[in-house]
Amino acid sequence: MNLNKCKTISIPTIKDNRGYISFLQNSNALPFIIRRVYYIYGVPHGNCTRGAHAHKKLNQIMIALMGAVKVSLDDGTQSKEYLLNSPQTGLFISEMIWRDLYDFSDNTVILVLTNMIYKESDYIRNYEQFQDILKK
Ligand code: TYD
Repeated sequence: MNLNKCKTISIPTIKDNRGYISFLQNSNALPFIIRRVYYIYGVPHGNCTRGAHAHKKLNQIMIALMGAVKVSLDDGTQSKEYLLNSPQTGLFISEMIWRDLYDFSDNTVILVLTNMIYKESDYIRNYEQFQDILKK
């Protein structure tokens, strides 16, 4: 099950009287080499949802740098909901996972680290197609 590959990652963090610094680097702490970074922000207040797709090959780590969001992960057989609300926690999402992001709090900023550059052909944006590919 691809859902079993998904997990939260505790991000190493140093705290002192000036605040916090958290870091991820291409060592054992990261399950892939980072090839792209993007961030989601300015999500309008209310019933805004994002995601609604899966990736054929892409792996990623999502981190709520500010605010909070719920992320539902679905591998076609089972699903699980995560609440991302800490810059010290990453959510690793493997390939072939349908994800929905919802319940964004105000001013949420989500940082995403990925193992691939942007490629629209890696997206599956139709849930039925996602299920068909899983059956193959
Ligand atoms: P998408 O991944 O569908 O956003 P979300 O999952 O947060 O709802 O991306 C939204 C649009 O931005 C889509 O047209 C693809 C484009 N995009 C890029 O051009 N490059 C990127 O690195 C990303 C993440 C998206």
